[in-house]
Amino acid sequence: MPDDVAFIGLGVMGYPMAGHLAAAGHRVTVFNRTKSVAQRWTAEHAGEMAETPVQAGTGASIVFMCVGADEDVRAVAYGDDGALGAMSDGSILVDHTTASADLARELAAVSSEHGVGFVDAPVSGGEAGAQNGVLTVMCGGDAEHFERVRPVMGSYARAVTLIGPAGSGQLTKMVNQICIAGLVQALSEGLEFGRRAGLDLDTVLDTISQGAAGSWQMSNRGTTMMADEFEFGFAVDWMRKDLGIVLSEAQRNGAPLPVTSLVDQFYKRVQEFGGGRWDTSSLIALLRPPPQR
Ligand SMILES: NC(=O)c1ccc[n+]([C@@H]2O[C@H](COP(=O)([O-])OP(=O)(O)OC[C@H]3O[C@@H](n4cnc5c(N)ncnc54)[C@H](OP(=O)(O)O)[C@@H]3O)[C@@H](O)[C@H]2O)c1
Repeated sequence: MPDDVAFIGLGVMGYPMAGHLAAAGHRVTVFNRTKSVAQRWTAEHAGEMAETPVQAGTGASIVFMCVGADEDVRAVAYGDDGALGAMSDGSILVDHTTASADLARELAAVSSEHGVGFVDAPVSGGEAGAQNGVLTVMCGGDAEHFERVRPVMGSYARAVTLIGPAGSGQLTKMVNQICIAGLVQALSEGLEFGRRAGLDLDTVLDTISQGAAGSWQMSNRGTTMMADEFEFGFAVDWMRKDLGIVLSEAQRNGAPLPVTSLVDQFYKRVQEFGGGRWDTSSLIALLRPPPQR
């Protein structure tokens, strides 16, 4: 059944996600802070454009957000212009932003005061996953709200899972980022070791990607890492934001994260030499001999 939905935040991820909603037949209203992006989206897709988040939320049964960090979510969800101000009893707010679990719990409580359901729903799969509609979505919230939004999220995702109560989606995304951080460093070290050993790295990758060392990062980033190509993908600035959330949650729950903490510092160095918008696979650049780095 088509729904009246709103999508707030037409960035690398949100733009194609909102496009999939429109292609699936939902009546979509978009809001983007930089208006020209929303204008471009409405020129390409069937859908309306709103001037403010509150206007986007008016009449929507589901409002999706995919912005930057905690404070950006608060800016579009709350306040005079916030979507929640217009959302009606029984509607549902979904946050696809990678944010803190605290924010998810806060939004769940505030939404509930408005009679609105809330699902935290960070995603994995990157720009290509969003464009191809094959994202993985990890959700926190009530089963009833989750079941209502799950088929709609299916427009742009191939796996949509309820993990637990509000905040569980964000906590799962933290596990995801911990698993990626150490792995990308290990992949960088392996490739640089192989290069210095004089091996044919294409052959090495073809071979070991089929064995126990194989990974999404190896299959999708190995070749570009060897070619020093980083101007695409998931930005180091976003990864540092995510690892900041992870490390502060770990301070609270006591989880030891020695490798993740170290890799966070390596990403800081990538930022310091101007690689903030580079893909996270740029960790390998730190291992290249001077004078390149
Ligand atoms: N890119 C990935 O591969 C990827 C993968 C998984 C998860 N994520 C997460 O998904 C979220 C979005 O990532 P992205 O890559 O799509 O980011 P992005 O391309 O930088 O887009 C961010 C979007 O949020 C809007 N925005 C940011 N702050 C805002 C504010 N204060 N008020 C209103 N709008 C605001 C931006 O509007 P403007 O156009 O006006 O700047 C833009 O539409 C982030 O939390 C990121 O960590 C990203």
